[in-house]
Amino acid sequence: MLSVSGLNTNYRSSRGENVRAVRDVSFEVEKGKFFTLLGPSGCGKTTTLRSIAGLERPASGEISVNGRVIFSSSRNISVALNKRNFGMVFQSYAIWPHMTVFQNAAFPLEVRGGVAKKLIRERVMRVLETMGLEKFAEREATQLSGGQQQRLALARAVVMEPELLLLDEPLSNLDAKLRDRMRFELKRLQRELGLTTIYVTHDQAEALALSHEVAVMNDGCIVQIGSPRTIYEQPANRFVAEFIGASNFLEGTVVGAGHAPALFRVRTPLGEMAVRSDRALSSRDPVTVSVRPENVEVLEATPEAGLNIFTGTVEAKVFQGDFVDFQIRAGGVNVMARTHPSLRTPVGGSVAMRLDPEKCIVLRAG
Ligand SMILES: Nc1ncnc2c1ncn2[C@@H]1O[C@H](COP(=O)(O)OP(=O)(O)O)[C@@H](O)[C@H]1O
Ligand SMILES: [Mg+2]
Repeated sequence: MLSVSGLNTNYRSSRGENVRAVRDVSFEVEKGKFFTLLGPSGCGKTTTLRSIAGLERPASGEISVNGRVIFSSSRNISVALNKRNFGMVFQSYAIWPHMTVFQNAAFPLEVRGGVAKKLIRERVMRVLETMGLEKFAEREATQLSGGQQQRLALARAVVMEPELLLLDEPLSNLDAKLRDRMRFELKRLQRELGLTTIYVTHDQAEALALSHEVAVMNDGCIVQIGSPRTIYEQPANRFVAEFIGASNFLEGTVVGAGHAPALFRVRTPLGEMAVRSDRALSSRDPVTVSVRPENVEVLEATPEAGLNIFTGTVEAKVFQGDFVDFQIRAGGVNVMARTHPSLRTPVGGSVAMRLDPEKCIVLRAG
C-alpha cells in the first residue's frame, strides 16, 4: 500500500518567489489498485508524482510503501531514487535507439545485476508477450510504431516487477485512435499484473475509464477523492462538477429545511424544485444546484404530475449522431439536455423537462 500524508513540495520560481506546487496532499492507495491524479495543467500532479518517485525533495510530509518509509521530513528519511524500486513512464518516454526491443526491455534488470542471464531472458520475454511485442524482440526499437514504442516503454517499467508503477500522461503523445486502444491495454495489463499504479492525467474521460479511484486536484490541493462514479455523480464542489464533464448550474435559495440525506426544496430561476443533499440545509441558505445534461429528460408533452417538471422553449440543438444536445430556455436561463436522437422538436418549439431530484446535487461553495 502507498501512503502519502501531509505532502508539501515547493519550487523557487525564476523571480525567486516560493511556488507552493503541492499543498498538504494526503491519500492512500491499496495494493493492486489504479489511482489517478486528475486536474488542469499546473495543479501539481507531476510534482506529486515526482515527489513519490524521489525526483523532487518535498518540504514536508511522509511517504511510505508497503510499510517502508521512503520519505519523512520529521524523521529526516529520504530513500534514494534508485533504491525505491518504482517503475516510471513519463509523457516524453524515451526508448534507446541503438538497442533492440529485447535489449531495451532487459536494460533495467541488467543494470540492477544479480539476475542470471537465463532468468532475464524468461522475464523479459514474458513481459514482451504481455505487451504483444514478442515477435519484435530482435528488431531495432526505432523500427516500432508509436503505439509499440509506448508499450515498450511500459514493458521496461514493469519488467522489474516494481512495487509501484508511476505514469505521467503516458498516452498524451499518441493520436486519438491509438490512445483509445492503449487505454484498454493499459487497464488490462494493470489488472492482469496487479500493479499498484499512480496515474497522472488532465483528461477526465481517461481518468474515469481507467481508475479504481480518482483524486481531483486544483491549485496544489486535492479537492475530492472517490471512485469514478462518485466524483461524477456526487461532485464535492463546482470545480469538480465543471472539470468532470458538462453540467447545468442553477443558483437558488433553500425554501424548506430538512435533515440530510434527504430531498430539500430550493427556489431556482426555473421554479421551486426538489433536490438531494447529503448535508443539512437551512431555510434561506444560498445554494448551487448541479444537474448533468443526461439527467434532464426532455418531453414533448407536459406530464400531469411529478416533481421538477418545467416547460421551456428549444433555443438550439446539436445533432451528435447517437444523441442530440438541446439547449432549452426556461425561467430566464438556458438548460442543457442530452436526449435520444428520436426527439425531433424543432428550434422554437415548446417542450417540458423533468429533472430527476436524485440527480439534482447541491454543491458546496468553492
Ligand atoms: N521546476 C520548476 N520550477 C518552478 N516551478 C515549477 C517547476 N515545476 C513545476 N513548477 C510549478 O509548480 C506548479 C505545479 O506544476 P506541475 O506539478 O508540473 O503541474 P501539473 O503536472 O499538474 O501540470 C505549477 O505552478 C508550475 O508552474
Ligand atoms: Mg504534469
